[in-house]
Amino acid sequence: MKIIACYSNKGGVGKTATSVNLAYALAARGKRVLLCDLDPQGASGFYFRVKPSKKLTEADFFEDVEKFTKAIRGSDYDNLDILPANMTFRDFDVFLSRMRNSRSRLKKALKAVKGDYDVIVLDCPPNISTLSENVFRAADAVLVPVIPTTLSQRTFEQLLDFFHDHDLPVKKLHGFFSMVQGVKTLHGETIEALRAAHPKRFLTAQVPFASDIERMGVHRAPVMATAPGSAASHAYQALCDEFMARVEE
Ligand SMILES: Nc1ncnc2c1ncn2[C@@H]1O[C@H](COP(=O)(O)OP(=O)(O)OP(=O)(O)O)[C@@H](O)[C@H]1O
Ligand SMILES: [Mg+2]
Repeated sequence: MKIIACYSNKGGVGKTATSVNLAYALAARGKRVLLCDLDPQGASGFYFRVKPSKKLTEADFFEDVEKFTKAIRGSDYDNLDILPANMTFRDFDVFLSRMRNSRSRLKKALKAVKGDYDVIVLDCPPNISTLSENVFRAADAVLVPVIPTTLSQRTFEQLLDFFHDHDLPVKKLHGFFSMVQGVKTLHGETIEALRAAHPKRFLTAQVPFASDIERMGVHRAPVMATAPGSAASHAYQALCDEFMARVEE
């Protein structure tokens, strides 16, 4: 089983849109997939029309295998299950910081469902916290959407520094350019600069700014399901291919 995380310390960069489409693409290929929504906003669950798992508290999530597995829901798609988030997930950090081995708890919790899935996709909230450290340790690979602007460049570099400072393997980080607008000179320049500065860290595949992706909130389904022929759908397919080839390397 592989654990992959969609993570950025920056908000609104496309983590959830990517998690949802990546999970869908992998399930469509016949992989048994669990999409685990770690963000109390619960957007991943919303996109798959799954209600929040009110009964699952932060303590249950990390300590009660039975309640954890009971909270998993099926989706409208074959091979794809969802663990929806709820508002108690906002207390993950306080809870984790009080635990022994506080940085490896997520890995331990996910081991409970190891035999049931080929891939677990983690949709992460935007911060660098104890939960994020758990994500970095649990995940085989971390997919990082980067909008090609100056501030996003800065946050990506802060993330690289964090990995260096905490002895985490930088090779787990795989950036890709998200919401790319070809007409914007700044986008082109930032992409070029970041690829040159970090030649191995960025995937070739990039996701364009697309209204089809914004409309996912209306359809409440992955764009790959509602508009399979769209440019957005092709972009996620290419992203999934390239990223999974790296994960399975
Ligand atoms: N490639 C794209 N083109 C256009 N809109 C996009 C694209 N990707 C995401 N969006 C839209 O931008 C908004 C933020 O995207 P998303 O929720 O995926 O980001 P996020 O990083 O998960 O945010 P958060 O940090 O709040 O969890 C959403 O309204 C989404 O529909
Ligand atoms: Mg999100």
